[in-house]
This record gives sequence, structure tokens and C-alpha cells, in this order.
Amino acid sequence: MVKAKPLHHVVLIGFMGTGKSTVGKQLAQRLQRGTADIDAEIVRREGQAIADIFATRGEAAFRLVETDALADVLGRTEPLVIATGGGAVLSERNRELMLQDSFVVALTADPEKIIARVMEDPDRPLLQGEVRERVYKLLEDRKHAYDFAHLTIDTSNLSVGQVVEQIE
Ligand code: S3P
Repeated sequence: MVKAKPLHHVVLIGFMGTGKSTVGKQLAQRLQRGTADIDAEIVRREGQAIADIFATRGEAAFRLVETDALADVLGRTEPLVIATGGGAVLSERNRELMLQDSFVVALTADPEKIIARVMEDPDRPLLQGEVRERVYKLLEDRKHAYDFAHLTIDTSNLSVGQVVEQIE
């Protein structure tokens, strides 16, 4: 009998402002695992804020660094809870890497919840200018981008603890 290999990491995907980083930290505590945040990993590796990478080197350069950081973190031997950036799912290579041996959880939220949450954090280069219009446009562009997850949770009306419980 072929035994299924247990999935190694938990990977959180989802649009900006759906709570990936916050949920990631709490879920890691709950599961007694380490946590990694791909955006934070990129900032650490490059020594530059995300917005600066976009401004000085462009989105394409950012996406290359993102794939490198993701591959590196997914390759770690200790099982982790990994929060990804909202656009990490756009690359087929990244999706393949995530599905290799991780349990992939998509977090979603109502657009107005997303807008309220992202307004609090300015380091989001893709949302410069008219935030409301940008969020609606990007949500439309990425309508099915997160569909490959094993599990999808709408976080709009849930506390962080409730989201963590559902994943657990
Ligand atoms: C992006 C989301 C951001 C960050 C970058 C690009 C995106 O991460 O990776 O600004 O394309 O959706 P968060 O989802 O953590 O905000």
C-alpha cells in the first residue's frame, strides 16, 4: 500500500488585507511551529522596503525575488506556517511550489473589510492612489487566483482566533 506523505507546511494565500500575517503568527503558536512571512523575508534579504523595491526596481524584479524567497522558505526542513504576499499566487511556478507538499489555505474578505484594513498600512505599492478603485480592480483581476487552495475561509466576520480554529 502506498502511504500518503503528510503535508509539511501550512501556506496562507489571499488578497492583501485578508489577515494572512496575523493569522499566520497565531496559527504557528497554536500548532507549535515556526512561522515565516514571505514579504518580511524579502525585506530582510534585500534590505529594502517592499515599496522601495517596486519603486526602484519594478514589479517584475520584485516577483523574481518573491519566487526565490518562497522556494527558500518552502525548502526548510522544519514544518512552518508560511504567510505569502497577495500576488505570490500569480506565478505558476509559485503555485506548483506551494502545492508540492504544503496544505494551502486561502483567506478571503469582503472588499470593504479589505479596504479598511489596508488603509492602516501604507507599505502597499500596488494600492497607491485611489485605494478603493485599486482594490476593486485588483480583486476583479485576481477573481480566481486563489481557487487552487485546499481550504478557503472568509475572514470578514471572524476573529483571528476563529480563523485559526477553523484551520486547525
Ligand atoms: C502584493 C501584496 C503584498 C506584497 C506586495 C504585492 C500583491 O503582500 O507582497 O506589495 O501583489 O498583492 P500582502 O498581501 O501581505 O499585503
